[in-house]
Amino acid sequence: MSAMSIGQPLPRVDGRAKVTGAARYAAEFDQPDQAYAVIVTSTVGLGRVTGIDTEEAARLPGVIAIISHQNAPRLPYREHKGFIDPASGERLHVLQDEQVRFFGQPVAVAVAETLDQAEHAALAVRVAYEARTPATRIESAETVAPSEADSARGDADAALLQAPVRIDATYGIARENHNPMEPHATVAAWDGDRLTLWSKSQFVVNEQAEIAAVFGLPAENVRVVCPFIGGAFGTALRVWPHVTLAALAARQVGRPVKLVLTRRQMFYTTGHRPRTAQRIALGADRDGRLSALIHEGTGETSRYERFVEALTTVAPYLYSCPNVRTRYRLAPLDSSTPTFMRGPGEASGIFALECALDELAVELGIDPIELRRRNEPAIDEGENRPFSSRSLVACYEAGAARFGWERRDPRPGSMRDGRMLVGWGTATATYPVFRAPASARARLMPDGTAEVETAASDMGPGTYTSMTQVAADALGLSPSQVRFQLGRSDFPPTPPHGGSMTMASVGSAIHAACLAVLDQAIERTTSDDRSALRGVPAGSVEVRDGRLSLRDDRARSQSYAEIVALGDGRPIEAEASSAAGDERQRFSMHAFGAVFVEVAVDPDLGMVRVRRAVGAYGAGRIVNPRLAHSQCIGGMVGGIGMALMEQTALDARDGRPVNASMADYLVPVNLDIGTLDALFVEEHDPHVNPLGVKGLGEIALVGMAPAIANAVFHATGRRVRDLPIRIENLL
Ligand code: MOS
Repeated sequence: MSAMSIGQPLPRVDGRAKVTGAARYAAEFDQPDQAYAVIVTSTVGLGRVTGIDTEEAARLPGVIAIISHQNAPRLPYREHKGFIDPASGERLHVLQDEQVRFFGQPVAVAVAETLDQAEHAALAVRVAYEARTPATRIESAETVAPSEADSARGDADAALLQAPVRIDATYGIARENHNPMEPHATVAAWDGDRLTLWSKSQFVVNEQAEIAAVFGLPAENVRVVCPFIGGAFGTALRVWPHVTLAALAARQVGRPVKLVLTRRQMFYTTGHRPRTAQRIALGADRDGRLSALIHEGTGETSRYERFVEALTTVAPYLYSCPNVRTRYRLAPLDSSTPTFMRGPGEASGIFALECALDELAVELGIDPIELRRRNEPAIDEGENRPFSSRSLVACYEAGAARFGWERRDPRPGSMRDGRMLVGWGTATATYPVFRAPASARARLMPDGTAEVETAASDMGPGTYTSMTQVAADALGLSPSQVRFQLGRSDFPPTPPHGGSMTMASVGSAIHAACLAVLDQAIERTTSDDRSALRGVPAGSVEVRDGRLSLRDDRARSQSYAEIVALGDGRPIEAEASSAAGDERQRFSMHAFGAVFVEVAVDPDLGMVRVRRAVGAYGAGRIVNPRLAHSQCIGGMVGGIGMALMEQTALDARDGRPVNASMADYLVPVNLDIGTLDALFVEEHDPHVNPLGVKGLGEIALVGMAPAIANAVFHATGRRVRDLPIRIENLL
């Protein structure tokens, strides 16, 4: 074999394109004769539009059209069950009726020759409403049960009552918005009844299917292009109303239309981490062995769709416990629909669970790592299956050593640095290993290089690079000889670029496509009379350095270029699909990690700073350690935001997000972060997928918030159970 590329810290193959500006993002795909669209959003949180006065707006310079429910065509909105569409509910049908379901809902769109003119026109549209007060608090909403909302083994409530030691507490997490650097944007262009969308998307084939359904078109009439994404964290997994509006506006005015959301609009209709309220009850003996675990949680959703996430799914498998009960409810509010946000569900659920574990450790006077070790299960007791691999204890050991945990004085408030209170906290991270059907195409070119294509996205983890490594190894080429393309709906289909499943799913498909093209090359070179390898059994051919050669006599060999030339010089091409087998029925498959955090708390001002953090992860094979490290510390930054800063605050009178700007919605900046480190424990998992990977994107945020909250407790003796932890909680 050639020198393996997998496992090497290859720099990003698209790094140069990104830093030179050559990488094009959705809003940069300007089209000839393009017009600009700006959305007019509702200024009430519930009710109906009683009138739209467009007279002044329509007279402004450069205005081409003002489109509202009064003059928009009725769209077919064919039924469409996307991969991650809410299990039940209906899509928001934009500009189809006068109903206002949430603050910031699109009620009109202004189209003009320039962006400034479109913005001006949007401001001049006068909308009259009949308004009611929206329901915006999960505490006062009537909840509904999603399917498979509850689980139980043993009798957790009875066991809790009998337990010698009990923790029973409630936890709250604020609504958060993803706030990636790149705003959502779509450039839409029609050619007859064919539509091209240059659009920010983590799932281009779903956007294709969704928009085809909205407009009643065959899917092949819609093409979605998204080669680069400037961060997404889940907000671009599904299709939001602005994509429909861009396509609708382009069709109305008969020209290509560009629509870019403002930062404020990013808080209205592009999803958010749902606000949650949770209860954890733990029962244990004096040695810390769990006898009861109850996890109840409620998350917000919209009235028109049910958004379900994995809020309470970790409790049944994370620790050994004979009596476990979970309960999950949704609170429908007069709000837009939430969506997955980095570490979705697990990150929120584990905040409650891992804080409660820390509370139990304090109550018992047991080191928090030792407490987890005492409850380490031999199998997944929820599914009653073995783990495909589980390195939680190894993660705690490796992370503790790197962090220096043995120097921790367990007494709260006991560690100081000058006048600063110092706290050390830890928590478990975990995330399931997902894999969904995916396809890819590979092509050997006349010059001996390869092209590989798949519809996947790259929102930042380095998909371009890691997939190049997978293809290079499968074909015996160096990464520089592979040209990998993604982000087009006319490439072979892939699952959503989310749920940490891209490498497991798409990587496996690319591996399969490359082996299929290799088979063709071997077939050609062993059956052609002109070949040095004619008549050789396929099994005795090996691939290295862009050549096929006889294993026992390397002198007999042919290069890919020569093999392509044997067949008239036409590229050798193969497409392959790859899907999971029955491994999920046989094994419980999850990545695990242990997170360690040091905070400094100003005792007078209540300000918290994360000085350093260490995450140790058992995530299967690491395809590229440089990207993996970057991926993990990026997730940690998100976790710092979740723990200490991020919250979308709604005005109870009208549901308005009052801090819908980057000045008011706080995210961590360099000075908030300190030193972050990630390490990976060696893990060989033959069961998860052919590449042995578990995925990293989501787990990197999971566990960070409870580790910080536990560190804040250690520093101050204050147990804050509501995120974000604010100054006023510590004064
Ligand atoms: Mo991830 S929240 O599935 O983008």
